[in-house]
Amino acid sequence: MTKKRVLSGMQPSGLLHLGNYLGALENWKGLQNEFDCYFFVADWHALSTNYADTSRIREFVRELLIDWLAAEIDPSKATVFVQSRIPEHAILHLLLSMIVPVPWLERNPTYKEKQEEIKERDLSTYGFLGYPVLQAADILLYRPDFVPVGKDQLPHLELTREIARRFNSLYKPVFPEPMEHLTKFPKVLGTDGRKMSKSYGNTINLSDTEPVVRQKLKTMVTDPARVRRNDPGNPDICPVYDFHKIFSTPAVQQQINKECRTAAIGCIDCKKLVADRIVERMTPMWEARAALIKNPARLDDIVEDGSKRAGQVAHQTLQDVNDAIKI
Ligand code: TRP
Ligand code: SF4
Repeated sequence: MTKKRVLSGMQPSGLLHLGNYLGALENWKGLQNEFDCYFFVADWHALSTNYADTSRIREFVRELLIDWLAAEIDPSKATVFVQSRIPEHAILHLLLSMIVPVPWLERNPTYKEKQEEIKERDLSTYGFLGYPVLQAADILLYRPDFVPVGKDQLPHLELTREIARRFNSLYKPVFPEPMEHLTKFPKVLGTDGRKMSKSYGNTINLSDTEPVVRQKLKTMVTDPARVRRNDPGNPDICPVYDFHKIFSTPAVQQQINKECRTAAIGCIDCKKLVADRIVERMTPMWEARAALIKNPARLDDIVEDGSKRAGQVAHQTLQDVNDAIKI
């Protein structure tokens, strides 16, 4: 029986944090054992918002790959590659752009949202509007069964299916419609108690060192009503307790839940407990990161090999596309 295929990608727009790890990478790690997985770095997508300052894109591509491998994405199981190494993505993007009505793109909720969010950059470009067409090309080239994405990406996936349907009915049925693969993952809060996000500057990064992680936890916000050591606290509204829910055993969670409410434990000790668990969980990743940084040729080989394999699939699909279009 052939395995079903999974494809997903990430933009190299910064360093990965614990929220990305628990939300996406842990999920990918499980999928690679069950499916024929393609995971790629969407570096052309990074240009859509960063075209005016490309100075760090290459660095972020490398960091992203290092984070993936450190998080046990296994290149002997999954095909790991970089978008810009596969020209077929750009070619299919061009061909699809011929059949995608502009209003489909203008209607896309993330188009307006991102423009509102990133006021300081000019996002009135052709490439930014066409972002979902490039994403559709990324996906359809590999004809995957499932695309693991977060909720925010669902409109792009729906658009991908609409584009596939339009292509199939105009020419020939070349593209199966990919399904989303949504995963439940814990809500991960940042050190300031808001959602962990690069744009809030409240992240714990996979590339942070142990002292940095410990320091970030030390200064993390707690139940704001718990001012003095003797004040009882409420773990239900404390972001540190959310970390306990992710990283500590149920027994420890219960104990802290009780001792916080009676002020039997102080926040400093409580944070130390969870810092130890987080450090424990991150240590193998730090070791793997260090090994990869010491051996850059290994990373190059992995990308070379993955891009070769991905390129073969992409090449085959593009042949079918050209036949269907008769071009
Ligand atoms: N748009 C995705 C994001 O911002 C990244 C991405 C690009 C992607 N191409 C993709 C995700 C193809 C899944 C499939 O997270
Ligand atoms: Fe939060 Fe722990 Fe302090 Fe309670 S003891 S308020 S759970 S940090």
